[in-house]
Amino acid sequence: MNIPRLNSILSTLNRLTDDISIPYPMKNMWERCRIRGGFHFGWPALTIGSKTARIPIIQGGMGLGISLSRLASAVADTGGIGVIAANCIGLIEHDYFKDGRAANIRALRREIRTARAQTTGLIGVNIMVAMNDFYQLLDVSIEERVDLIIMGAGLPVKNIPVKKMRDAGVLAAPIVSSARAARIIFKMWEKNYHDVPDAVILEGPLAGGHLGFSKNEVNDPAFRLEELLPDVVTEVAAFEASFNRKIPVIAAGGIFTGEDIHSIMLKGASGVQMGTRFVATDECDADDRFKQAYVDCTTDQIGLIDSPVGMPGRAIRNEFILATEKGRFPSFRCAWQCLANCKAEKAHYCISIALNNARRGDLDHGFVFVGANADRVKEIVPVATLIHRLAEEYSDIVKEMAIKRLDKLERLVAGIQALQIQYNTLCTRFRETGQQYEKRMKEIQARIIENLEESWALVNSVMPA
Ligand SMILES: Cc1cc2nc3c(=O)[nH]c(=O)nc-3n(C[C@H](O)[C@H](O)[C@H](O)COP(=O)(O)O)c2cc1C
Repeated sequence: MNIPRLNSILSTLNRLTDDISIPYPMKNMWERCRIRGGFHFGWPALTIGSKTARIPIIQGGMGLGISLSRLASAVADTGGIGVIAANCIGLIEHDYFKDGRAANIRALRREIRTARAQTTGLIGVNIMVAMNDFYQLLDVSIEERVDLIIMGAGLPVKNIPVKKMRDAGVLAAPIVSSARAARIIFKMWEKNYHDVPDAVILEGPLAGGHLGFSKNEVNDPAFRLEELLPDVVTEVAAFEASFNRKIPVIAAGGIFTGEDIHSIMLKGASGVQMGTRFVATDECDADDRFKQAYVDCTTDQIGLIDSPVGMPGRAIRNEFILATEKGRFPSFRCAWQCLANCKAEKAHYCISIALNNARRGDLDHGFVFVGANADRVKEIVPVATLIHRLAEEYSDIVKEMAIKRLDKLERLVAGIQALQIQYNTLCTRFRETGQQYEKRMKEIQARIIENLEESWALVNSVMPA
């Protein structure tokens, strides 16, 4: 029985439980945290290169004329990144069929300037690499010093004016649908420009508009956004290390609620790009009939089309689409071969004209691109309301997770405290038993000595001297 050692163990245990219970008082820990305001449940900012958006949301560029200065500036004003879609933007001009290129340049410049006049927030431009005037639209965006240029529908690797972009403080983000595409773009940039893009947007198969997946891949679980994301994050991380800078990966396609945002960010995304939710807003630049088509559409109406762009696209499969699939084609005049590899002759209709008709609310002569979740849209709201709701949903889920963790911590610490009490009781008993043992031992020793002395005296008395 080593009583000093027992005391030292006991005092260590006391110290340990104090260490836990002083900073984390056990009772009503959650309530205390709330009162002290000790937790932050809001979403993190999104930093791309030198620029920071207060909220981690990029409003996806939506052609044709769906996201112009009005929507982009409203989103930028709430702290997200508002994006103007540049492809065939000239169709909103009166003279597009006279000179499509000039109309595109004029309209894009004007929309960027209008957006800038309406907000001090971050404004981006989305340009499809497949457009025949891709480089002109790129030049206009750089001249107007937009904050971010997003490049999709093709690999932005050749003749990219990277130095001009850097000099103008314009950030670059390609859209990819796989880690392989990200690797090709980053390697080509490294080789050609000794530089890499500032961010990557990974667009999964649930997105609206043109998709970077085959029709089979769209429904294959292996191609789900959350499955693709980790590989893209790993791919980009290698370039982050060699260029010593942070390169955020932004996830897009099917993100609908604040909970979705939280969940995909937990899996490695630094932010999200959303399209569908922003169509159903007051500020969306499309006609109200276009927006209403979102509110009215049902799950079975949402499907894929073979776009003349040469990629599948997700849309509301309305009468216009069904008619073209049955061989009833609208007559059209190609203004200037706006797409590099346009399959309009094969598709027998011009997608730019069809999308522009839809934008103007003429759904009989066009169709509406939508994300896979468009059937969940129930109303048209102001952008600020949408962002507010997403923020609340995001913070609710963070709060819920924090409460669960605190509950678990409370249970663990309460368990430690209960064990400590048991341990103390046992130690006291042990010490008492030890003391009794020592007392008894001493008594026994004394009696033995007494008996020995008595025996010794007896021996002496019977032994002759
Ligand atoms: C009506 C509509 C038009 C779109 N147009 C474009 C476009 O011109 N260029 C592009 O890169 N992406 C385009 N997209 C894709 C969005 O930018 C965004 O990445 C996508 O919609 C995200 O998926 P979500 O709609 O499920 O949020 C479009 C999407 C929609 C719904």
